[in-house]
Amino acid sequence: MAATLSRPEIAVERRTSYDTFDITTLTPHLGAEINGIDLAVPLTEDQISDVRAAWADWAVIVFRDQHLDREAHKAFASHFGELHVHPMSNRRGLDPAILVVETTADSPYTAGDGWHTDVTCDAHPPIGSALYITKTPESGGGDTLYADMYLAYELLSPTMQTFLEGLTAVHDGAIPYVGAYKSTPPEGGYPVNEHPVIAVHPDTGKKVLYVNSGFTSHIKGMRRWESKALLDALYNHIAATPKLHARIEWKPNTLALWDNRCTQHHAVWDYYPNSRYGERVSVVGDRPTGVR
Ligand code: SIN
Repeated sequence: MAATLSRPEIAVERRTSYDTFDITTLTPHLGAEINGIDLAVPLTEDQISDVRAAWADWAVIVFRDQHLDREAHKAFASHFGELHVHPMSNRRGLDPAILVVETTADSPYTAGDGWHTDVTCDAHPPIGSALYITKTPESGGGDTLYADMYLAYELLSPTMQTFLEGLTAVHDGAIPYVGAYKSTPPEGGYPVNEHPVIAVHPDTGKKVLYVNSGFTSHIKGMRRWESKALLDALYNHIAATPKLHARIEWKPNTLALWDNRCTQHHAVWDYYPNSRYGERVSVVGDRPTGVR
């Protein structure tokens, strides 16, 4: 079976049935809960193949009621690529592949509280991130929003699509890690790298809008005011178009794996002074490639 979206410009078919599990979709185009898999035990080849297929179809896949130690969390993520080391890792003396995502009443900020794609300042940004939330706020809240970057691209006019396809943007780690999180940069500074404004997803072959307000500093070859005006318009498109969006309402022991190559996300800090705790393992893959 397949789900079909109604408007012609977003008429994309995605599978809704797989051999080794059932799914419940979050929206018609983005996000699915996978029912009937225990990630604490080694997955069969068939399960891995189906999870990969569901990830390609739905970009954000959610597994409820999981009971994972760090090794099981890493083992699951390892099915999708080599484990990523975050530029701000080793601050807690933990395994460098584990990124703690914790917010308490004493936190000066919550990580990811703005639309972004993970660590696009890296030359090889994480292609996927697996966040395992074990504590949710007693008050409720603490959801994560996701936005579909295939659809963000498809909803642009053909004129804008063609214009953007030739452009390259600069992504700078100092924007979040120094500007927002006030951390001390490592020797040599946080990474700065260039990526195409429109990238092509290596698995699906489809085009995505690949700039984000978390890391993108400017578009090359433009006046700063031109670059700012263009990026602000694209960020407004991402934030203000509800049909791009899906939302995960976390429960304790939920793991979500999202595809950073075709989505953005936004952690919602609406639960102060309550706390939320999770750990993230990300995986790296090919460097983003453009259309030409
Ligand atoms: C992140 O990985 O950006 C954090 C997401 C979240 O805490 O919901």
